[in-house]
Amino acid sequence: GSYPGLGEVAGKRVLVRSDLNVPLDGSTITDDGRIRASVPTIKALADAGARVVVTAHLGRPKGTPDAAYSLAPVAARLGELLGAPVAFATDTVGESARSTVAGLADGQVAVLENVRFNAGETSKDEAERGAFADELAALADAFVSDGFGVVHRKQASVYDVALRLPHTMGALVSAEIEVLKRLTETPERPYVVVLGGSKVSDKLGVIDNLLGKADKLLIGGGMVFTFLKAQGHEVGRSLLEDDQVPVCIEYLRRAEESGVEIVLPSDIVVDTEFPSGDTEPQPIVVPASNIPASSLGLDIGPDAAAAFAEALAGARTVFWNGPMGVFEVPAFAGGTRAVAEALTKIDGLSVVGGGDSAAAVRTLGFEESAFGHISTGGGASLEYLEGKELPGVKVLED
Ligand code: 3PG
Repeated sequence: GSYPGLGEVAGKRVLVRSDLNVPLDGSTITDDGRIRASVPTIKALADAGARVVVTAHLGRPKGTPDAAYSLAPVAARLGELLGAPVAFATDTVGESARSTVAGLADGQVAVLENVRFNAGETSKDEAERGAFADELAALADAFVSDGFGVVHRKQASVYDVALRLPHTMGALVSAEIEVLKRLTETPERPYVVVLGGSKVSDKLGVIDNLLGKADKLLIGGGMVFTFLKAQGHEVGRSLLEDDQVPVCIEYLRRAEESGVEIVLPSDIVVDTEFPSGDTEPQPIVVPASNIPASSLGLDIGPDAAAAFAEALAGARTVFWNGPMGVFEVPAFAGGTRAVAEALTKIDGLSVVGGGDSAAAVRTLGFEESAFGHISTGGGASLEYLEGKELPGVKVLED
């Protein structure tokens, strides 16, 4: 059997970089979306008779083994989804990896332990990264890059290994890039972007780029308080990036100049404590211009949610990244739910980007098929929309 871009793969060892970085509660996977999204490429290779060696990371361990970040539960879930046993190597490039790969029959799949247990994976030192990539490459005859969520990382298993093996882009990375291209090259108008999540500083590049492209920018989530502060409001104990206030002032000014409408919430759901599970939430709705000094904002309010839904109605293209509030707690899930609901009604292209927002729509019980596309990449999709070059994609094209 053959795999597009690689040719005949039967009997060959094919290393696949997947993004299996799923949220865990202890060793329980709370959202397996990224594992499911990785299955088609792995299955296609196995069906073609390849000996499939999957490499991936989980969380951000510090370059050394750490049981809390083991991929073992992820490998088990992958086996369930594939409907076939998946071998698991307890190291990434050591004795266990070598013997596990050597033991694979044609069409079988193995998962290597968390690639970030090795300092070489994320090293900024090219030689150290290269040495580790040599060890990874020695385990395979060819490489398929399918971890869309990591293509913005210049890391050994994403970038350097492609320099060492015949390689191609996997089905997931191709599909993700195709959708994002539609957002950047030919978005049908009106084009509305919804941004949330905790930090403005993560979104600056994308806001910068979108000011010239989108028609409306709706802002919620933790990052909204820095914008509210930029408008001259006090935000109590809400999340605030003080050093970004001048930047937000500048964006508000530029938006006005360029005719892009930035919509900020008119009301906010606050509480006096961040929800911890120990105490019952005491949510109160207040005007965004009147957040009490003792409170912190945890969701956009009901008026804002309705206004956001109205701003989304009639859009032909929507990109949404980042929850509107602490959606994991029902008392603060209303804004995120309203945005998700509005996206399901879009007649056009609706894209949910980012691990958190993707997990949010599934956690809140929405059908994935109600959205145009749910991206597996958070940082990667944002960097693409910023117009940045993605090292893990560039290396495949060169
Ligand atoms: C993600 O969760 O966005 C990807 O898996 C990348 O993880 P990272 O930000 O730790 O590189």
